[in-house]
Amino acid sequence: MFSQKQLNTFKETETPFYYYDLGVLNKTLAAIKKAAPPEYHIHYALKANAHPQLLQLIKEAGLGADCVSGNEVKRAVETGYSGNKIVFAGVGKSDKEINYALDHSIFCFNVESVPELKVIDELARKKNTRANIALRINPNVDAYTHKYITTGLEENKFGINPYEFDTVIEELKKLSHINFIGLHFHIGSQINDLTPFKNLCSRVNEINKWFIQKGYLLPHINVGGGLGIDYKDPDTNTIVDFESYFKVFKQFLELQPQQEIHFELGRAIIGQCGSLISRVLYVKHGINTSFAILDAGMTELIRPALYQAYHKIENISSEKKTSLKYDVVGPICESSDCFGKAVEMIETERGDIIAIRSAGAYGEVMSSQYNLRDKLRSVIL
Ligand code: LLP
Repeated sequence: MFSQKQLNTFKETETPFYYYDLGVLNKTLAAIKKAAPPEYHIHYALKANAHPQLLQLIKEAGLGADCVSGNEVKRAVETGYSGNKIVFAGVGKSDKEINYALDHSIFCFNVESVPELKVIDELARKKNTRANIALRINPNVDAYTHKYITTGLEENKFGINPYEFDTVIEELKKLSHINFIGLHFHIGSQINDLTPFKNLCSRVNEINKWFIQKGYLLPHINVGGGLGIDYKDPDTNTIVDFESYFKVFKQFLELQPQQEIHFELGRAIIGQCGSLISRVLYVKHGINTSFAILDAGMTELIRPALYQAYHKIENISSEKKTSLKYDVVGPICESSDCFGKAVEMIETERGDIIAIRSAGAYGEVMSSQYNLRDKLRSVIL
């Protein structure tokens, strides 16, 4: 739902662009702070949206930064994050990226393989420093989400599997420039049912016990992110139920008093504050289907094309009362450039303003300039 003031701004602005509602972001951040026990460490996953102005606000709310590339670490540093609030994950960290992170004394590398451990140790040795690392464990817990965004199953490329633990421990004993400080988990994204998080807690408990028995009482346990949002009804469920989410961990995770818990949330923080705003260029009536052709396409928001993801699509400028069904498509030369099929929408015509909702996470960051599209603009109010 947009106010008249917002609509007026949209009408005066060249489309397409991302609109970010700071009111929604602030409310979301306040809700997290209220719901999370004070001892919980919440890191914001920059991969969802790394816009400097939004990141600044998130930093001011006290959240840490979860990064998956050297440039994300750089963005966090440039936003003013001190190294000890930055964690760095990813299956393929390059030497350049590791060196940059070492130079900024980041809090922790989430390490995904034995070869990576050795490289970090070697690079830290050359700099005469030590790197804090957590092992990213593949807990083999099903997140029951889209297969492209399930990460915690055994056949995924992410993390270290339990059958490798003995080897990893043997390797760690040989590495002199590594501080082994934690375990890291992440099972997937857009998880709306809390059951997979309960299952994750059970697995973390087992794995944590295993390491404790081996003599490793690790001070940091990171359970990743993945909490989903309501794409169907963003106006009713604008803010995620963070309380129920944190309660699951409070109830089911059995940590030692010395152990601290970390989260890495992306979508649940930034998803609902963003919309992709575009204009209808043409309406084309086929035999069975009417097409609303927008000036935004899969280059601006690829989620529907890539994951068959649903985003609510609204005609927000028309005064008409009747609805029709449209295939809402973009201008890109690909059949997959479709935001939704048979979308029921207020009858539309050239010039109408269309909002594609819940696009704050994995929208702008996944955009491209395929077809030599213009650089994407954004409006933050
Ligand atoms: N931590 C790790 C290790 C991750 O891999 C991810 C997301 C997160 C945290 C943050 O997850 P979130 O809280 O945002 O679910 N592009 C896809 C989503 C990919 C998620 C990748 N990893 C999409 O548009 O749905």
